[in-house]
Amino acid sequence: MYLALSAPETRPFLEQELIRALPGSALEPLGDSLLALKRPGDWPETRAALGLTAFARQWMPDARSFPVPSIRVAAEALVTGLIGVIPDGAPWRLHIEPRFGGVEAGRHRCGWIREAVVEQLRKRRRSLLKGLDAVPRAMTAGTNGACPSIPGACPLFSTGESLVQLLLVSPEMAFLSVLVAPEPSRSQGWVSPFPSGEVPVAVDKAAPSRAFAKLAESELRMGRAIRAGDTCVDLGAAPGSWTYQPVQRGARVVAVDRSPLREDLMRSPRVTFHQGDAFRFVPETPVDWLLCDVIAAPERSIGLVLEWVRERRCRHFVVTIKFKGHDDYAQLDILKREMPRHVESFQLLHLCANKNEACVFGTVGNGPLKDAG
Ligand SMILES: C[S@@+](CC[C@H](N)C(=O)[O-])C[C@H]1O[C@@H](n2cnc3c(N)ncnc32)[C@H](O)[C@@H]1O
Repeated sequence: MYLALSAPETRPFLEQELIRALPGSALEPLGDSLLALKRPGDWPETRAALGLTAFARQWMPDARSFPVPSIRVAAEALVTGLIGVIPDGAPWRLHIEPRFGGVEAGRHRCGWIREAVVEQLRKRRRSLLKGLDAVPRAMTAGTNGACPSIPGACPLFSTGESLVQLLLVSPEMAFLSVLVAPEPSRSQGWVSPFPSGEVPVAVDKAAPSRAFAKLAESELRMGRAIRAGDTCVDLGAAPGSWTYQPVQRGARVVAVDRSPLREDLMRSPRVTFHQGDAFRFVPETPVDWLLCDVIAAPERSIGLVLEWVRERRCRHFVVTIKFKGHDDYAQLDILKREMPRHVESFQLLHLCANKNEACVFGTVGNGPLKDAG
């Protein structure tokens, strides 16, 4: 079976999303933020559908449950499951996460299991131990681009890297999922490099608003950050937290809103403010980044991002889709259908920093971008 992890408040929406994507699949809630997909069906088809679920933050493919009567037994079972499966010496990541009652107690137990796994590997398979967390965790400038807003971010998977996930659903019961390389790197975001798919909500008290966290999280999940010298268009930019981040890093921003940004940003030589309608704005030349956090009906924001990528007006994009109630989520299916025709890669996700929103972000590709007119 496959396990999907979501935020507790969005699990019902994930269920509806999966019913639409994979009709006839057997779904079973296993807790307030955990859903089992029992007959995943054909692998490539399923993978494509699961990769586009906005409300799943993490997937555990081919998860199997086993009892965990003690820390030692859990570690032994895990190591036994890896020997001969993960190639000796190859890099792999280990996520051990709790999903029950008292999170703190669960975290301690997970920490102890990790220590016991390392101990077991030392005794039974040192070559596997060598590959554990062997890929450096920090994103570095020049490769993925530095992301100074959240230090210590993990990069996306490298091609040779495998992922092992152990999820404790009670002190005595766990699920194990082993995804052998190169599958994690092919997963296009549906299997997250972040444990449980969770990214801590970033805080910067100097930013004009808490909207800051949404752009920071999107960059982390893309494994790509806006860099010095990049050009950006920020639609619905006021009061300016999204503009603030590229400006801090030495990028240039055309900010579009009906209202002005915070005064220091209005004065910044890196900001060109354009007072007007975000939906009518077309850049004179293509830009590196489209940023859009405009408050609008979902179909308008969806139409806007599709127009920008179809017209190749930007290289990368981060766009918020905002909802009023809970009835409009099926509109996200338009993005799932249309985006793949126009972009190299994209993700659609209810971010940890999102309220009643989802974010679509990705890369149009390296082909020529289009000038206006
Ligand atoms: C959630 S706020 C954006 C917050 C911003 N991302 C930040 O980081 O500070 C939404 C903005 O969209 C603007 N907005 C709404 N409709 C618009 C439109 N049609 N054209 C331009 N701006 C619009 C609002 O004025 C508001 O400033």
